[in-house]
Amino acid sequence: MISIKSAREIEIMREAGYLNYLTHEEVKKHLKPGITTKELDNIAHKFILSKNARPSFLNYEGYPASICVSLNDEVVHGIPSNRQIKNGDIVSIDIGVELHGYHSDAARTYIIGDVSPEVRALVENTQKALEIGLSKIKEGAKIGDIGSAIANFAHSKGLSVVEELVGHGVGTSIHEDPDVPNYGKENTGLTLKSGMVIAVEPMLNIGERYVYLHDDDWTISTDDELPSAHFEHTVVVTKDGYKILTGDKLNDEK
Ligand code: MF3
Ligand code: CO
Repeated sequence: MISIKSAREIEIMREAGYLNYLTHEEVKKHLKPGITTKELDNIAHKFILSKNARPSFLNYEGYPASICVSLNDEVVHGIPSNRQIKNGDIVSIDIGVELHGYHSDAARTYIIGDVSPEVRALVENTQKALEIGLSKIKEGAKIGDIGSAIANFAHSKGLSVVEELVGHGVGTSIHEDPDVPNYGKENTGLTLKSGMVIAVEPMLNIGERYVYLHDDDWTISTDDELPSAHFEHTVVVTKDGYKILTGDKLNDEK
């Protein structure tokens, strides 16, 4: 079932999304070579609790941490551990925040120090792919419009698109209907309506699109061990476009 959120629900989700944004900013401050991914998880965990909110991912289907931290060839769902961040890494941070029973979901990929121009382009173009996908959203548009725009852009930059994981609806669960794939055909699929809340989350690879699941049952990495980047926002569909719920309230509000 695809839920349409009321104005009151959107207001709560905006608050949850703003806390998500603030948690990302808090983690970013500490993201330097030498810090472990578990330390980043602790920072996010404490920060979210200090705001009287809850980390959405903790215990979700048994997930053992508050955030996901995925390095280099890891695509998503990296479990925080005693591994240290080092110069030349790319680090994807994925955060879920639940407030008053409503969730928000957002991810960013950071470049740590010196990386090759190719890796820099991967990260910049994945962020651009998210913006391009979002730009298709408005009441009456189709889910396929989002994925086809993302995939066409990615391919034009020589990047591949992970297909095993997709964006999704967000609400009283972190994952709701509908699926929001990062591939597809224009003018096909579900018609977007005002008040739908979806997370759009392109995962793009330098090499082949294929991925595998680690023995930890969570971490997903590229088969060819080449880097992957991930950006995600939770947005609400409006009559003329969309509003980002996981952005900076003061500067991003449109
Ligand atoms: N943002 C992640 C996704 O949409 C949520 C991961 S939930 C977790 O796939 F529990 F797996 F971390
Ligand atoms: Co998500």
